[in-house]
Amino acid sequence: MDNRPIGVFDSGVGGLTVVKEIHQTLPSESIIYVGDTARVPYGNRSAETIITYTKQIIQYLLDQNVKAVVIACSTASAQALEVVKPLFPIPIFGVIEPVSQASTTLTQTQHIGIIGTKGTINSQAFPHTIHRLNPHLKVDSQACPLLVPCIEENITSGLILKNVLHLYLNKFITPSMDTLILGCTHYPVISDAINQYIGREINLLNPGTYLAETLRHELLTQSLQSDRLHQSVYQYYTTDEPSNFIAIADNIFSQPISSLTQKINLI
Ligand code: DGL
Repeated sequence: MDNRPIGVFDSGVGGLTVVKEIHQTLPSESIIYVGDTARVPYGNRSAETIITYTKQIIQYLLDQNVKAVVIACSTASAQALEVVKPLFPIPIFGVIEPVSQASTTLTQTQHIGIIGTKGTINSQAFPHTIHRLNPHLKVDSQACPLLVPCIEENITSGLILKNVLHLYLNKFITPSMDTLILGCTHYPVISDAINQYIGREINLLNPGTYLAETLRHELLTQSLQSDRLHQSVYQYYTTDEPSNFIAIADNIFSQPISSLTQKINLI
C-alpha cells in the first residue's frame, strides 16, 4: 500500500478529463495536477520543446513526493513518454496505448478514426500503436489545431464550434468508420458537440477511461495502490493565473475546485 499522491499533468484543462476518470475508477487515490496554462497549447510545438516541458513538470511532481505520474496529454505522451520514462525513478504512464488497445477490440467495421493536435497526428503515435496490435485495421487521422484554443476559451457549443468541427470532421461522416479516438485529452469536453456533428451511433473513445483502467491494474501489480479507506486529497496547480482554468474545470467536475487551485512557477 502507498498513500502518496499520483501526479497528473497536461498543457491546460484537458487532463482534467483524465482526472475525472481516475477519480471514478480509483476514488481513494490522491492527485496533484499541473496544468501548464502559461505554455498551452503544446500541440503546435516541437518534440524537443515538449520533452523539456515534460521533464520540468515531472521533476516538479517528483519534488511533491508523488508515487507515479500520468502524462494526461496525448501530445506529450506521443513525443516525450519514451524519452522521459528511463530518466525518473517512478512509473510514468501515457494516454496513447490504453485507448489504442481498446479501439482495436471495439471496432466492428475495422475502420478507426483519430483526431488530435498537429504534434500528436504528425508523430503517427496512434496509427503505429494500433497497427502494432492489428496491422489489418484501416486508420484515418485528422489534426484539429483550432479545437484546443476553443476549449481553453470555454467555447464548447454553438456556431463557432460547429464550423470548426465541420472543417475537421467532414471526412469522418463516412458510415464505414465506427470508432473515433478523441486523441487529445481536451476533446471529451466537447464530446456532445462531436456526437451531434457525426450524427450517428459510433464509439467515441475518451483516453482517460482506458488510462484509468491501466493505472488501476499497474498500481495493484506494483503494490502502489492506496489503502481503500484512505481519504483522497486533490490539489491543482497552474502555471498562469488560474481563473479561466477554474471556470472550465467547473464544467468538467460537479464540485467547484477554486479553493484547491493555485498558481506555481515551474522555472
Ligand atoms: N490536451 C493535450 C493533448 O492531449 C494538449 C493539447 C495542446 O495543448 O495542444 O494533446
